[in-house]
Amino acid sequence: MAEKYFIEALRGKRGLRPPFWFMRQAGRYLPEYREVREKAGSFLELCYNPELACEVTLQPIARFDMDAAILFSDILVIPQALGVEVRFEQGEGPKLNAISTEVQIDALATNATLERLENILSTVKLVRRELADNKALIGFAGAPWTIACYMIEGQGSRDFSKARILAEAQPDVFAKLIAVIEKATIDYLSAQIEAGADAVQLFDSWAGLAPEETFRKFVIEPTMRIVQALRRKHPKVPVIGFPKGSGAMASDYAARTGVDCIGIDYATPAAWAARELQMKTAVQGNLDPLVLAYNLPAALAQAKQIRKTLSTKPFIFNLGHGIVPQTPPEHVQALSEFLKTPV
Ligand code: CP3
Repeated sequence: MAEKYFIEALRGKRGLRPPFWFMRQAGRYLPEYREVREKAGSFLELCYNPELACEVTLQPIARFDMDAAILFSDILVIPQALGVEVRFEQGEGPKLNAISTEVQIDALATNATLERLENILSTVKLVRRELADNKALIGFAGAPWTIACYMIEGQGSRDFSKARILAEAQPDVFAKLIAVIEKATIDYLSAQIEAGADAVQLFDSWAGLAPEETFRKFVIEPTMRIVQALRRKHPKVPVIGFPKGSGAMASDYAARTGVDCIGIDYATPAAWAARELQMKTAVQGNLDPLVLAYNLPAALAQAKQIRKTLSTKPFIFNLGHGIVPQTPPEHVQALSEFLKTPV
């Protein structure tokens, strides 16, 4: 079997250039994605249709030849598998039936998680079969903190104040919800690995909302327990953590969670990450997706600088958050071509 460049880099092997992929590399900025999504009917129907989800997972690889594909799905399939109704309304983002009491947490469906996610596991198997041997397939889930934020808030929010209030006012109730999500996440990520995922990423999009003590209790500790559980079952499979917005707390996250690689967002200075994080774990990041969408010359210059700063130690090039729908595919093409050149 051909070596996976992406996995080798995470294990510390240095090649001529860092491997690259982009968060949200499959999505609305691609006309071929919009076409398949139309055919599927809705975003969620696309997520649960293995043939079509496999097709959109592979679309960006066919066009841009990244070193890794990421499973096409969403982090909110875990609340769904726990029995929470999730809807995506056009242009409005996700809507969930919010929960906030211990009774509601106790009523979550905790014994059918994997059955309900069977179609997504089928997508993983299909993609791994169709993807070239030298490319990695990244599986993923939301981290417990971020999933709890959506489950309590019931929708996206600037500050997730309902979730934040529950975490501070009733930490025991919040911890109970975290424990339920944590268990489902361990089962789900293990199943993705068994279906063929070569690495997994935990998306903690709202980690930056947690104050220090809460960050330790509900961001670092659940992540650490997930990493430990995965390590026991699948010791060779790298885990990437993306605690978006975590600022100075990223140091403790990198030191204590046990992740193999920490994703840094676009607001994190690359030189700071090289100094503070890269002796603890590999680093992944962090070009601003808006610069990529709106200023290609600046994007290429910044990509060059990021590579220069981070590629002397284990490093995966990525964006600092997901590609936005307004991004011209030609910009992604030009960036990918640049990233194929030696550092
Ligand atoms: O990166 C990839 O290409 C893989 C697929 C992927 C999606 N969502 C597809 C998607 C991944 C890894 C995610 C993760 C995800 N989903 C996160 C964590 C990363 C982040 O962005 O911070 C979060 C918070 C979600 C929840 C979610 N899903 C929101 C808030 C939205 C609406 C925002 C929007 O862009 O409309 C989604 C929808 C979603 N997930 C889309 C895609 C391609 C757009 C759906 C569509 O086709 O209309």
